[in-house]
Amino acid sequence: MTDRLQYGTTAKVFHWLSVALLLVQYLIGWLMPDIHRGLKPGAPMTLHISSGILILLLIVFRFAWRLTHPVAPESSLPPWQRMSSEAIHWLLYALVLATTVTGWVFASFRGWGVSFFYLFPLPMLGSENAAAGESIDGLHQAMEWALLAVIGLHAATALVHIFIYRDRIMQRMLPG
Ligand code: HEM
Ligand code: HEM
Repeated sequence: MTDRLQYGTTAKVFHWLSVALLLVQYLIGWLMPDIHRGLKPGAPMTLHISSGILILLLIVFRFAWRLTHPVAPESSLPPWQRMSSEAIHWLLYALVLATTVTGWVFASFRGWGVSFFYLFPLPMLGSENAAAGESIDGLHQAMEWALLAVIGLHAATALVHIFIYRDRIMQRMLPG
């Protein structure tokens, strides 16, 4: 398959939709009440879990789209920048997947029954297990911070391209 030179509309919509959903997801995650023993998921937790599952579905579709519609790195970039940007993109996919899956496993080990945006019950990945729940909680938090750090690096690199290199890298992901 020949790699395209530009991102198409679908890849751009997937990209900015993931950015918007992740922003909402972090805000709900930090603002929702802390969980404690015996807590039943309220509206903020139901929303966090539902939009987390939406992000999981989106990233799976987006990854499948990327594999079937590969885009070549900008040819004017030096090889080290082409390789490092590709590596960061793969890492972003992996960390979004890891954050969503650890969150889902954690919610399952709490023994919760949660609905997807109050529409239908979500399948859970295991039954109540307090000890396993505690260790996977640490993993969900580690993944969410690792993802945030890599997003920060990725967005900072975009700023460097806009203001220092003053090249067209940012335009590749913008409409048009
Ligand atoms: C990429 C997607 C996700 C992000 C960025 C994210 C982020 C967060 C954040 C920031 C917190 C607050 C924890 C803290 O105080 O540090 C949190 C907690 C939590 N998340 Fe997620 N989450 C995601 C996906 C999910 C999914 C898919 C589920 C379940 C299906 C989930 C279940 C939970 C639960 C149960 C908690 C409470 C545990 C705790 O307070 O430590 N998350 N998440
Ligand atoms: C405001 C924040 C962001 C900016 C300014 C930004 C900017 C960009 C730009 C300019 C590209 C194209 C790079 C190139 O052509 O080499 C890109 C690609 C990409 N971005 Fe972002 N991005 C942001 C946030 C995110 C977030 C939160 C994610 C997390 C999933 C993400 C994941 C990706 C991926 C995976 C690619 C590669 C395209 C693909 O494989 O489909 N970006 N981004």
